[in-house]
Amino acid sequence: MPENNHPPESVDFIPYSPYQPTGDSVCQAREFNLVMQKRRTVRDFSDRPVPQALIESIIATAGSAPSGANKQPWTFVVVTNHALKHEIRVAAEKEEHEFYTRRASQRWLEDLDHLGTDEHKPFLEIAPCLIVIFKKVRDDDGGQMYYVDESIGIAVGMLLTAAHLAGLATLTHTPSPMKFLTKILDRPANERPFLLIPIGYPASDCQVPDITRKPLSEILVVAD
Ligand SMILES: Cc1cc2nc3c(=O)[nH]c(=O)nc-3n(C[C@H](O)[C@H](O)[C@H](O)COP(=O)(O)O)c2cc1C
Repeated sequence: MPENNHPPESVDFIPYSPYQPTGDSVCQAREFNLVMQKRRTVRDFSDRPVPQALIESIIATAGSAPSGANKQPWTFVVVTNHALKHEIRVAAEKEEHEFYTRRASQRWLEDLDHLGTDEHKPFLEIAPCLIVIFKKVRDDDGGQMYYVDESIGIAVGMLLTAAHLAGLATLTHTPSPMKFLTKILDRPANERPFLLIPIGYPASDCQVPDITRKPLSEILVVAD
């Protein structure tokens, strides 16, 4: 997409209003990094409810993400109804049973070993809220979408960040295939399930796998 600092007069532009950090921006970035390093994927949730206003605010943050041609190719479906959560759990566990007993390669199962996951997904019922993210492969009027996966991936990253900053725990869940979500949640033909995110407070005795993250020296390359 061409960049243009001097748009034609036919295009509406408004002054850009930058966010101004109040203190030293390097200190703030480092502090923010420490906060984000505490984010973990949680698989043991408390059933403590999450205020609807919190969920709405988190989704509004996700919805502010950049997207190809500003098409905003996403829908966030919030599920708190117990009967619906139960239906989703049953359908997800059916797919996960297939995955763990037939579909997954030996290598994949070995790569998952350290997470201690299996076909049982009680968190789908225990977590007070599920956010099911659908990607729009076509606009509601049939129009073309651009860079859908990239756009929605960024939006979900922002959602996870906003949830973490609100003291909430999340699980990025991908029961595969996820087609059952389209049916259960009655979504239109231009939407495909993208991710299923249980969200809530961690159980009081919640434990997480002891994983490591690659150091900066391994992920940062300075090109010159
Ligand atoms: C695209 C994606 C799909 C994932 N799918 C699952 C899943 O289906 N079940 C699960 O328990 N964890 C899932 N995870 C969570 C990862 O296992 C987890 O992010 C990883 O082990 C790193 O742990 P951390 O999030 O605590 O840093 C997924 C994560 C991503 C980004």
